[in-house]
Amino acid sequence: MGRLEGKTALVTGASRGIGRAIALELAREGAKVAINYASSEAKAQEVADEVTKLGSTAMIVQANVGVAQEARAMVARVAEEFAHLDILVNNAGITRDGMLTRMTDEQFMEVVQTNLGGCFFCTSAAIPIMTRQSFGRIINISSMNGQVAAIGQANYSASKGGIIAFTRTAAMELSHSGITVNSIAPGFTDTDMFAAVPGPIQAQIKAKIPLGRYAHPEEIAKAVIFLAADGDYVTGQQINVNGGAFM
Ligand SMILES: NC(=O)c1ccc[n+]([C@@H]2O[C@H](COP(=O)([O-])OP(=O)(O)OC[C@H]3O[C@@H](n4cnc5c(N)ncnc54)[C@H](OP(=O)(O)O)[C@@H]3O)[C@@H](O)[C@H]2O)c1
Repeated sequence: MGRLEGKTALVTGASRGIGRAIALELAREGAKVAINYASSEAKAQEVADEVTKLGSTAMIVQANVGVAQEARAMVARVAEEFAHLDILVNNAGITRDGMLTRMTDEQFMEVVQTNLGGCFFCTSAAIPIMTRQSFGRIINISSMNGQVAAIGQANYSASKGGIIAFTRTAAMELSHSGITVNSIAPGFTDTDMFAAVPGPIQAQIKAKIPLGRYAHPEEIAKAVIFLAADGDYVTGQQINVNGGAFM
């Protein structure tokens, strides 16, 4: 029997990459999983099919988490379908890289709206549901680049640093409601997002990682499982899963 049997989870941005790995790991532990996607319906359905093969229950749910009404309607729909919502993983994220001298207002706002705004919209929708249950595990995927300078990513690092700060305050405010709030800061992880980084820059990055390689998405997912299944006395914290790239 899995450690999350009887629990339900919503993972934003679960059609690919880290979110996909998180959804599958949650299912392996027995949780029912809602798989959110923005546009990759077929990929989300593939993840749902894998969840079913693992013996758990899945639903797919389209929403742009950066649009408040869509994010909130998604959370309500998942909670209604599953009858409760125990675990929310705010994972959906995008990059629109560019040096500050050339970064447009649209590039800046789209990244902050999606990454940080999406985290707020989904969390605020989940709070009344989790408060009624006196139980909730909110896990926000930030980034090592919210902790260190990242050239070309002023928008992204601001959004991720914002998630780290948001997590602490949310944890404090919700500490009497049975809800824990934590973040995970992955280092460079082998997904479509990282594949978009030019090859020579990838090589420079890899050379600076003490463990000598990028993370596998499953290694980020394991930290999520720890917080969801065993982290009852952990709140307001951040777990760095970065191969030692930031110590
Ligand atoms: N990869 C890394 O090196 C790395 C490092 C640190 C932190 N992270 C963070 O980890 C998270 C996952 O990254 P990843 O590398 O797995 O990214 P990815 O491979 O690009 O996948 C992104 C996922 O987010 C979804 N998504 C994008 N915009 C969305 C929106 N507006 N609303 C709902 N879903 C949306 C995508 O859905 P569609 O398939 O429908 O587009 C997809 O499922 C992100 O928050 C990222 O910032 C990644």
